[in-house]
Formats: sequence, C-alpha cells, structure tokens
Amino acid sequence: MLDIKITKTTAPKAKPADESKLGFGKISTDHMFLMDYTLGKGWHDPRIVPYAPFELDPACVIFHYAQELFEGLKAYRTADNKIQLFRPECNGKRMQDSSERMCIPTIPVDDFVQAVAALVEVEKDWVPHSEGSSLYIRPFVFATDVGMGVHASHHYTFCIICFPSGAYYAEGIDPVRIYVEDEYIRAAPGLTGFTKCGGNYAGSLLAGEKAAQKGFAQVLWLDGIEKKYVEEVGAMNIMFKIDGKVYTAACEGTVLPGVTRRSIIELLRDWGYEVIEGKLAIQTIMEAGHTGKLEEVFGTGTAAVVSPVKELVWKDDSVTISGGKIGPVTQKLYDTLTGIQWGKVEDTKGWIVPVCEG
Ligand code: COI
Repeated sequence: MLDIKITKTTAPKAKPADESKLGFGKISTDHMFLMDYTLGKGWHDPRIVPYAPFELDPACVIFHYAQELFEGLKAYRTADNKIQLFRPECNGKRMQDSSERMCIPTIPVDDFVQAVAALVEVEKDWVPHSEGSSLYIRPFVFATDVGMGVHASHHYTFCIICFPSGAYYAEGIDPVRIYVEDEYIRAAPGLTGFTKCGGNYAGSLLAGEKAAQKGFAQVLWLDGIEKKYVEEVGAMNIMFKIDGKVYTAACEGTVLPGVTRRSIIELLRDWGYEVIEGKLAIQTIMEAGHTGKLEEVFGTGTAAVVSPVKELVWKDDSVTISGGKIGPVTQKLYDTLTGIQWGKVEDTKGWIVPVCEG
C-alpha cells in the first residue's frame, strides 16, 4: 500500500466548456502522480502534485537510449455519477511485463492501481460527462540516470497524467481505411513488439505518415519475417470475421496484448463465436474479401475502443468491408463494451473497479 502525499494546485485550470471538441489527449488536467526509483532503495516518494514540466539533465538516459514504457487506460463517469475504471489491474500486469523486457524495475500491480485511482479521485471533476467521452490516463516510466554509458539506469521516474478525451480517430465510430504496410515492419520475434515502449511507436511513424498522406487512418503491420501474416495496427489490435469465425493474431511476442482485445475475445466466446488466435495470411483475407466471406473487420484498443474498418488496401489490391458500414457484430461489441464501461450494461465479469462518487 502506497502512502501517497497529495499537494493540490492553487491555480486550477478552467474545465473545457464544450466536450464535443475535446479531441484525444490534448488537454491535460491539473495534477500528476509521481514516484521515484533509486537502486538499493526501490520505489519511493509516491505523490500527487500540480501538473508541471520536468526539469531533466540533457544527458538523461531516456533522451539517448529510450529506456521507457507507457500504459493507457480510461476513467468513465456513469449516468448515476460514479467514476470507474476498466480492468486497471490488466494494465498494471502488462506494465510489469513491459518493464521486465526493458530492464525497468517493476511496480506491484496493487500499487499501480492505487496510484491510478488516487489521481483519478483528485481529478474526478475532469472526467467528462458527455456520451462517449472519458478521462484518458497515461502512466509512464522513464530512466533518469545521467551519462552516455549504455546500461540499464539506476534511477527512474513513474508518472501518471490524464486527459479528458473524446474519440481517438477523427472518424469517431465511423469505419476507417487501413493501409497494409508491405515495406517497413513493426516487430520481430525476440524484439519489443509486445511491450508498450515508445520505440515501437517511433519506428512506426514513417509508415503511418506515408499512409496518412494517402488518406488512410492507420497501417496494418505484417509479421517481420515473411511479411505475410497480419499482426496489429499499432494503436489497436485487429480482428477479422471470416465466414462466421473471428481471427486475430496470437500474442506471442510481436503483438501488444491489448486489454480491450482480451475483453472482446471473452465477449465473443460468451456469445458462441469461435475465435482463432493465430497466423492469418493477408492473402487469405484479401481473397475472403473478394469472395464475399470477409464479413467484418474491426480494431480494438483502449483509445480506439472498437473501431470498424471499411477498406483494406494491400499492394495494388483493395477490399471494401460490410459495404463500407459498421457490421452487426462490431456494433454489438461496441455497444456491450462501452455499455459496461459507462455503467449502462451490467458488469457480470467483475471488470469494473469503482473509484469514487463523481
Ligand atoms: C491506448 O489505446 O491506450 C494506446 O496506448 C494506443 C495509442 C494512443 C498509442
């Protein structure tokens, strides 16, 4: 159990007047959570302080060798004005897994959840009220040793910041166009694909920028060895409904084990769908698209929630999915998941963690 010291700001910012213009991750709240790590002392000094810039030495390890990682989760306001989290312990566990790969000291899952909940309680007035909006929570850890030697740092900072946010994609729940990347790769066995380290995202920017110039929302990554099997979309995992069955890449080291991904798989299996986690060739998907067997495609992620895909373009081939509209299973998944998150659908799974009254 952390003993969190809370120092409130004396200059709170005005809350956004128009929640329809929040965007995603643009407006920070008034406070942040901080905790420090020192080799030999462990994690210490958990505190909530006014949101402020960091002062860091230019020789800090984080700037040069990118030893860091992050997480993403949300706080929701229910109709009866309760503030709640969705499976935060899964984020805490995933952060531990990322930490081990990145040589970063782990934080106990209970401490992670306590820190998130404590900050959300302090910032409860920042949790938006409008349908589909939530408080996006960004925990992150970075190395703070100073010097040019390449080694695991002996000092770290764990920080949590929050942003009242709307939909991740400008399209909202409207279906997006996805470009299948066939030049660059995102991950390969033995590398860091399964972690939420910033380097995974930095390495994906060029492909994303090129795709955006052609009007695509995101790129779909293929496996790093053969560029044959679908993996993920970077900001979300992706699922394909082909001839009644749902396929998604297995989490075997190169794919991010999404919290939304595993929740959606559980829902689908509860509803009687066969879900296959394994290798699925892009060639097979495109063929299914041309023979009418590719019924629905959707992404899953904390930020993206459940995002329908209306078009896939691979090399000089393209398929349109569900006539360019959101498919029925995608819609039912979106409604059920967001229903549980916003307290409109009963949480029979124990996924919700209450934080406080709003
Ligand atoms: C999330 O869904 O929380 C993510 O981290 C995806 C993205 C915004 C990087």
